[in-house]
Amino acid sequence: MNDASHTNNRLLLGLTGGVAAYKAAEIARMLIQSGVEVQVVMTQSACRFIGTATMQSLTGRPVFTDLWDDRVANNMAHIDLSRNADAILIAPASADFISKLAHGLADDLLSTLCLARKCPLLIAPAMNSQMWSHPATQRNLAMLRLDGVTVLDPDSGEQACGETGMGRMLEPSVLAEGVKAVFQNGLLQGKRVLVTAGPTFEPIDAVRGITNSSSGKMGYAVARAALQAGAKVTLISGPVSLQSPSAARLIKVVSALEMLEAVKNEVTQADIFISVAAVADYRPTHVSKHKIKKTGGGLTLELTPNPDILEYVTSLPRPPFCVGFAAETENLEENASAKRLKKKLPLLVANLARDTIGSDDSALILFDDSGQYPLARAPKMQQAQRLVQHISALYGK
Ligand code: C5P
Repeated sequence: MNDASHTNNRLLLGLTGGVAAYKAAEIARMLIQSGVEVQVVMTQSACRFIGTATMQSLTGRPVFTDLWDDRVANNMAHIDLSRNADAILIAPASADFISKLAHGLADDLLSTLCLARKCPLLIAPAMNSQMWSHPATQRNLAMLRLDGVTVLDPDSGEQACGETGMGRMLEPSVLAEGVKAVFQNGLLQGKRVLVTAGPTFEPIDAVRGITNSSSGKMGYAVARAALQAGAKVTLISGPVSLQSPSAARLIKVVSALEMLEAVKNEVTQADIFISVAAVADYRPTHVSKHKIKKTGGGLTLELTPNPDILEYVTSLPRPPFCVGFAAETENLEENASAKRLKKKLPLLVANLARDTIGSDDSALILFDDSGQYPLARAPKMQQAQRLVQHISALYGK
């Protein structure tokens, strides 16, 4: 079970001296919007590039800049701040600050609390391209990587100093994603997660078949997000042209009956079952071994209903925690709520089919016993991470 009392969403955002400090305001805004608690600490040089008032207004929390802050009764701002953080991001991280971190210096509040930390540390370097490629900087970064620090390597591009080259800090949205991925860590630690993904293909004859439109992107993103969260993942996939996450155990199937067999074999060892696959509701009753010849006239196909795999799982005497997906073309909320009850699901994820099939992003609504939770349009990977957070909160209850 998860510890539901601890949300793992408190970020300490450290700013050091660099023109890219203005981007930290956007990082803070984006993370707060996705439910992250952001506490800002700035070095004296950072204060020359952006005001503490800006960061305080955005985060709704006082900004700390000094080891000897009168507001901290025990004079241990560095200990309190690092103890209350689930992760630290330094953005921008100047060459000077990187050097301090690499050598364990602790001569100001930010460097001291980094040294006192137990949580993951991410740094987003930003500097002139000569400073970036200097052997001293690269040596320091190599040391930090060995120490387990995550270096969010800068981009190449136009720089404030007028030069073009490596050293431009990554865009706020990319850095915000990096932070969210860290918060996923451990949410499903050790849990066994079974995911179905993609369409099924129901053969008519040796070369033809019927199928559903499904790219498999959402199911594969869910498998990846579960892996990020520390789960052991088995992915049962219909025919798709996607690279599967290497850390997942992949079982390839073609038809709904094959998918059902694979699910039957795996589900007893699963804690959580996430049914993302677009399973074909019907299969041709008779499958011809040979290619059916064109006759010039019409052809009538007789179809047999496929078993509902998800309902099979929810009807087991001791089912795992089950999550269903519903792609609707109309009356989304009504149909999705009815489907959740019919399939006895603690959680159902609904989307409008026309918006999502094959696309890289989607807008979703989560339905559970306590109500509806809309997830605004975002890349499928991000939606999958949000879904994993929701699952982990429900599963821990
Ligand atoms: O197709 P439908 O809207 O009923 O799908 C809802 C959920 O049921 C999805 O999670 C899908 O993976 C699952 N399902 C299934 N077996 C079927 C049909 C749907 O597991 N035959």
